[in-house]
Amino acid sequence: MIYKNILRPILFLIDPEKIHDIATYAGKIAGKIGPIKYLLSVFYNYKHSALVQTVDGIKYQNPIGLAAGFDKDAHLTQVLPSMNFGFEEIGSVTALPCSGNPKPRLWRLPKQKSLVVYYGLKNGGAHEIASKLQKLKFSFPLGISIAKTNCKETADVDVAIKDYYESFIILKKYADYIAINISCPNAYGGEPFTSKERLDKLLTKLDTVDYQKPRYIKVSPELSLEQIDELIEVADKHKISGFIIGNLVKNREELNVPEKEFAKVGKGGISGKLTVKASNEMISHVYKKTQGKYTIIGCGGVFTAEDAYEKIKAGASLIQLITGMIYEGPSMMKRTNKGLVKLLRRDGYKNISEAVGVGNREKNL
Ligand SMILES: Cc1cc2nc3c(=O)[nH]c(=O)nc-3n(C[C@H](O)[C@H](O)[C@H](O)COP(=O)(O)O)c2cc1C
Repeated sequence: MIYKNILRPILFLIDPEKIHDIATYAGKIAGKIGPIKYLLSVFYNYKHSALVQTVDGIKYQNPIGLAAGFDKDAHLTQVLPSMNFGFEEIGSVTALPCSGNPKPRLWRLPKQKSLVVYYGLKNGGAHEIASKLQKLKFSFPLGISIAKTNCKETADVDVAIKDYYESFIILKKYADYIAINISCPNAYGGEPFTSKERLDKLLTKLDTVDYQKPRYIKVSPELSLEQIDELIEVADKHKISGFIIGNLVKNREELNVPEKEFAKVGKGGISGKLTVKASNEMISHVYKKTQGKYTIIGCGGVFTAEDAYEKIKAGASLIQLITGMIYEGPSMMKRTNKGLVKLLRRDGYKNISEAVGVGNREKNL
């Protein structure tokens, strides 16, 4: 209530990227101060055995994770567990440092509870981030998202593959899972690895990396069903444990938003409520088709426990979010986790894993 009624209206008067930077800085400092972390956990911590699950060999205390893109440079790994996050994905990290696209590059669409994002993979680069991670210990699973450096050179597929490979090699020792981001809508050269031949080539190279933990592919929720089916076929031949569904959406025509709202913002991908339909439809499709063979991490427009539960019943084992936290505030994760336990109990499930995909299991359809 305090966040939505007092803090948010003030924060939303300020440039979104500035607020993002300030929040990241505050979180970084808070993560270094034991008493602050303790206080945060007094306010925000909530644990329940119904939320604990092991996914692809990694144990999660709860299913709610911070999606890639909020903590690009790994500043928040020490504070997020005190805010009831069950895991986080840092990055996307690229082999070379990158300052991203020109500013402004982040806008709010408050009426639509969404954001427009045109960062363009701003990050400190794999070496800098590895040297930061090297000094830290983690009290929750840490995923690392890798992408190709946003520059002209990586428009060449072989250069791009080398870029992913280098980041993977540099960062693998710190990652509980690796997310291969092939769906950044804002980088030079677009999304070349959504073609099956190129994805096959990329994954063939990444298969050579000695890494025994899960590898997930982050896809656009706007791929056609034929396209995602092709990517699944490619994944079948490689060391892939699942899919993160999904990234930002690009296609503004489908979104039913008055033109005057988009006139206030710049170009870029869209997050938040406007992604829900595409994300949930894609999760359902992939689960129906693969029936649990692949882990699904559901992402896009989660603001409440009900939103998370819908993705879980559609087939997601884990949930990621950014925009919900920005609109709902720091108590959102606790509220969502608590709400999930209630929903699981209502439906007679002892553990979240029992609910994964119930809406799309073959025997229930
Ligand atoms: C500010 C911002 C930056 C993002 N940067 C990345 C990124 O670097 N890599 C990535 O895989 N996704 C990135 N995303 C996409 C999110 O991870 C997520 O897929 C998308 O925002 C939908 O989730 P949400 O509706 O909960 O925000 C970014 C999103 C936002 C809002």
